[in-house]
Amino acid sequence: MNNRKVFLVGDGRVGSTFANDLLQNVKISELVICDVAKELTVGDAMDLEDLAPFVGPVKVVSGDYSDASDADIAVITAGVARKPGMTRLDLVNANVKILKSIVKPIVDSGFKGIFVVSANPVDILTTLTQKLSGFPKNRVIGTGTSLDTARLRVALAKKTGANIDNVDAYVLGEHGDTSFENFDEAIIDHKALRSYSELSDDVLTEIETDVRKKGGKIIANKGATFYGVAMCLTQICKAIFENKARVLPVSAPLTGEYGVKDLYLGTPSVITANGISDVIELHLSKEEKEKMTYSAEKMKEVLDGIEL
Ligand code: 2OP
Repeated sequence: MNNRKVFLVGDGRVGSTFANDLLQNVKISELVICDVAKELTVGDAMDLEDLAPFVGPVKVVSGDYSDASDADIAVITAGVARKPGMTRLDLVNANVKILKSIVKPIVDSGFKGIFVVSANPVDILTTLTQKLSGFPKNRVIGTGTSLDTARLRVALAKKTGANIDNVDAYVLGEHGDTSFENFDEAIIDHKALRSYSELSDDVLTEIETDVRKKGGKIIANKGATFYGVAMCLTQICKAIFENKARVLPVSAPLTGEYGVKDLYLGTPSVITANGISDVIELHLSKEEKEKMTYSAEKMKEVLDGIEL
């Protein structure tokens, strides 16, 4: 295995959970953890290095931005997390400020790898990471609707009793209140979703709402969400390192797909060692096209209000 180094910014519950998931799911040679809470990163690095006897040799250290220079992937989880009742867009001012303080020193370190972003609002922050870094669009990826898609698969498997491994359905658009499901193309246990009598329009509308609200419900109950999004970050890093052209629903750079330009939004994309090799434009019904347009318009409105 050639050198595989990950530079993680943000050692909060998402970052720390991601670090643990990454070490257990992906063979890497080094993980550097960077956070303003320096002591926390020192303790977490010491705690995580104790996985090495079980997962194989790996160096886990606390570090700073200069350590990003030879990293393959820079993962940005740092940011203020939602509190109960907040939307992800409520975080935009605080988290854009934090993002600006992160991207520049990483780029200045000489980093030439791939950015992977989960901090919210993730489509906005992924779009801004690309603009702030000036990196090629394919080398900036957001977790986007990968988490929503996981939640949709859970909901459909529960409703139909299908094996979740055979639930092939995507959530598209914003990772937020304007996300929507691409039900028309969904396949469950090798049959079209639309052939399931128990998945009436009313049931599907309820599932779409439940998926959209699930993050907020988790936060209302336990104060934060981190297991799902941490595993989404892990799967993106795994796809990059494995370089097998895996398709994942991520926040991807739209350059005309769905009639949208200059914006990252959730859609399936092909992930390789060089980041996003292809953005997949799914076939949308008229209603789904309108939902994607609306989602893009809402994101553009937010972006228009941000001074970089
Ligand atoms: C969620 O929905 C963290 O936004 C993420 O759980």
